[in-house]
Amino acid sequence: MMVLEQPLKSFFTSLSQSKSMNKLAKKWGLKLGASQVVAGVTISEAIEKVKELNEKGLSATLDHLGEFVEERTEAIEATDHCIQTLEQIASSGVNCNLSLKLTQLGLDIDQSFCLENMERIIKKAAELGIFVRIDMEDYGHCQQTLDILAELRKTYDNVGTVIQAYLFRALDDVRALEGIPLRLVKGAYKESPEVAYQEKEKIDENYFNMIKLHLDSGTYTAIASHDHQIIDRVKAYVKEKGISHSQFEFQMLYGFRTNLQEELVKEGYNVRIYVPFGIDWFGYFMRRLAERPQNVAFALRGFFSK
Ligand code: FDA
Repeated sequence: MMVLEQPLKSFFTSLSQSKSMNKLAKKWGLKLGASQVVAGVTISEAIEKVKELNEKGLSATLDHLGEFVEERTEAIEATDHCIQTLEQIASSGVNCNLSLKLTQLGLDIDQSFCLENMERIIKKAAELGIFVRIDMEDYGHCQQTLDILAELRKTYDNVGTVIQAYLFRALDDVRALEGIPLRLVKGAYKESPEVAYQEKEKIDENYFNMIKLHLDSGTYTAIASHDHQIIDRVKAYVKEKGISHSQFEFQMLYGFRTNLQEELVKEGYNVRIYVPFGIDWFGYFMRRLAERPQNVAFALRGFFSK
């Protein structure tokens, strides 16, 4: 472990949460090497990147980045943007679905307003035959996210969410959501020891238990991780249990472990790449640096080359 790892993690996490920095960075365009992990500012730039991924046998999920939405007009704008993204996915014929965050769509303003916005998006996605994944944010939004998902699932089956292994409640949530396609992750936010495991070993253990539980239930599972040890354990588990490759996919972030992404495709696994785009890139980029401060090399290279 790098000596500076913990302070760097805290540094990048606090930058990711800084409203003023997020606001300022929107004026910069993609800087600090962010273009290596963010697929562009416009939808058409992002669609071009998705086409390149599809040519390599990788499917994708597009995420229009956005943070700290406090005004109704901003949430409606973000909703319209999601709908435009769905239309572009359909008209360009790419192999791609959509990921989004509920705080972008007004969750912090009013839960029922956010639900209305989501209904517009999911209805359009259903018409176009596109699946929508609700990303999971910090613990403070977890139950609200699951409540909105439950409402939407009463009418639509083209929507799912994400469960984070660091939360004590994760296994219970996976059990309760049986039959709903889930993306399973370790968890990206800083959570308190009251609600979340803090030690890597415990998170990894809970993560693998969640994966097994969801795969065993026969529901389509997305295993979103860059951790080769977890990926190897999943490969061994599905082989041992005779679970078909068509029942799950690996997911990774755009620009991360690209060799491993392509190797998995060659081995016959489904791999989907999470492709973020948009001017609101700063918080996303800082969270990625917080997860793996070694990636700070990205930022430094970008800083000196632009
Ligand atoms: P982790 O960071 O635990 O690394 C484990 C080991 O893997 C490392 O020690 C290293 O050996 C290797 N490794 C990891 N990254 C590497 C790299 N870039 N290069 C080389 N080796 C590397 N979180 C959330 O809270 N809500 C969400 O909705 C989502 N959504 C989401 C979608 C997708 C597609 C992904 C991939 C991830 C998320 N996440 C997320 C983030 C997730 O919760 C988690 O924070 C990160 O994926 C980091 O955890 P990993 O499992 O990738 O490996």
